[in-house]
Amino acid sequence: MEDIELLELAREAVARSYAPYSEYYVGAVIETADETLFTGCNVENANYSNSVHAEELALSKAVEAGHREFERIAVSSDRRDGVTPCGMCRQSLAEFCGGDFRIICEGDETPNRYTLDELLPNTITGAHLR
Ligand code: THU
Ligand code: ZN
Repeated sequence: MEDIELLELAREAVARSYAPYSEYYVGAVIETADETLFTGCNVENANYSNSVHAEELALSKAVEAGHREFERIAVSSDRRDGVTPCGMCRQSLAEFCGGDFRIICEGDETPNRYTLDELLPNTITGAHLR
């Protein structure tokens, strides 16, 4: 599947976002090592703190289904403003994904492409704790 097709699926997930407070609607789709796809959207809460991010939900669904290795994630917002995973989501991804894990976001003509290592260099991982 092309990066742009994965981004299309993230755009579809935006439509399922529950974000009545920020009105910032985010969708994500993560691809596992065996090319299984899991989608996520942000799910906000009236206490403002409990909001689930789109990337967290996609990753958590995949982990719950037994996946531990990942290839790519695509992220979109309804504003198509090039949003990238926030710092918290980058750290969540780093729990399972190596530095060459690919992150695909909205760009002007073509998608913006990053690696996890570009967006979150030198972070703590499980390797530090062994
Ligand atoms: N949001 C995400 O879903 N993913 C990110 O990494 C950036 C932020 C959501 C959280 C909140 O519901 C809204 O976007 C505004 O921050
Ligand atoms: Zn986030």
